[in-house]
Amino acid sequence: MSTVWGTRDVEAAAQRGATLRLGPGDVLTPLARDRARELGVTIASADAADRPAAPPPPSSGTTDRTPPGSTSATTPATRRPGRGHPRPSPATPPVPALPTGTGGPVRSMHPPSGALFRRGAPLPSGLASPAPHGGGATGRVVVVGAGHVGMIAAMRLADADVFDELVLVDVDEGRAAGIALDLQHTAALADFATRVRGVATVAEAGPADYVVITAGRPRRPGMSRADLVSTNAEIVGGLARSVAATSPHAVVVVVTNPLDEMTQHAWVCSGFPSGRVVGMAGVLDTARFQALVALEGTGRAGAVEAIALGSHGEEMVIPLSRARAGGRALAGQVPAERLSAVVDRARGSGAEVVGLLRSGSAFLAPGTSAARMVLAMVRETGEVMSAAVLADGTYGISDVYLGLPVRLGRHGLREIVALDLSAAELTALREAGERIRKRVGSMARAS
Ligand code: 2OP
Repeated sequence: MSTVWGTRDVEAAAQRGATLRLGPGDVLTPLARDRARELGVTIASADAADRPAAPPPPSSGTTDRTPPGSTSATTPATRRPGRGHPRPSPATPPVPALPTGTGGPVRSMHPPSGALFRRGAPLPSGLASPAPHGGGATGRVVVVGAGHVGMIAAMRLADADVFDELVLVDVDEGRAAGIALDLQHTAALADFATRVRGVATVAEAGPADYVVITAGRPRRPGMSRADLVSTNAEIVGGLARSVAATSPHAVVVVVTNPLDEMTQHAWVCSGFPSGRVVGMAGVLDTARFQALVALEGTGRAGAVEAIALGSHGEEMVIPLSRARAGGRALAGQVPAERLSAVVDRARGSGAEVVGLLRSGSAFLAPGTSAARMVLAMVRETGEVMSAAVLADGTYGISDVYLGLPVRLGRHGLREIVALDLSAAELTALREAGERIRKRVGSMARAS
């Protein structure tokens, strides 16, 4: 079994004053090799080809520590942090079934095909046409964290060619600038006009319409998302405050784990209306479920209509009562025990990738999902997707960030969509909200 040796392994060897011994087939990542040179660590490799492996994955993951905020009784949630508790919202009106992917006014719940990321690619029928070049007021989007998640999100956003400028921010300014330049070099290949820049701070990025926060510590094998809490709260809180100072009208998309708690923390620290601070997880979890269902032979992943709600973790809720494939109920196409296994696998996909990578967490699907949310906003597609938002009483849940079905618009949350869930699904969603609320509370006490 070959081992991927990353920068942390080099640093540990340096602390012990030891030589790092690579076995047959082991690989040393390029960043680890640089770090070894910096620290003077000797690398002894057997016959292992010192092949460059994928560099250690990006940072992702953080914490929050704030008491639950609150929302007004009406949507979209536009609460500022710290206000009094809202009145419970009126009983949720019955909700018409979502338009299906065929012929409905908008593609309903599933992220559209990758074609959306190609400039001028045909949008699925019913989707709004791409925003004019330049996005919103500033025409700028900022991605904080130039790790792999941030890199993929930046690439997808540049390829979509809807912003005048994309700025990558990272404490390692060289990394931000190097990746930005490398991405700029693809402008002809991917046919985009967006200018790409890399800087060290949010302030240097300048005012933006959208800010994607991916910065934080990556998860390592055996770590849960919650293990990242104490490590990342400072990062996300500090970034949220910087964004508030530099981009007071921006929409913030939080990617960092533990996602639900972190998004709430970013909301409180930014002081923004809650509708302008959303978390990316449900799009990722939905996409994973769609991909895994498609592997059961139901057809294209994009033809699976489903939505992942609740938490980005154990309390993820995928309402199978609403899941369809190719326009037909999923339940009749995949045996119940297989479907249950697929749900479990989707819920554990993050950890599964971490276990395989051994030195970090997923980044292709998370980065693509974050870009997908920004594009849904700037293009005002009106599609229903899952996002971590401050619950407003719909579903009987208030004052806590969790994954709910939403429509996003240019300025963030447009509305929380009340889907017709089964009693068991609604109970599970409410339980997810309560467990997230408890985690938020314990973090507030721990801080
Ligand atoms: C995942 O689920 C990193 O949370 C991210 O892979």
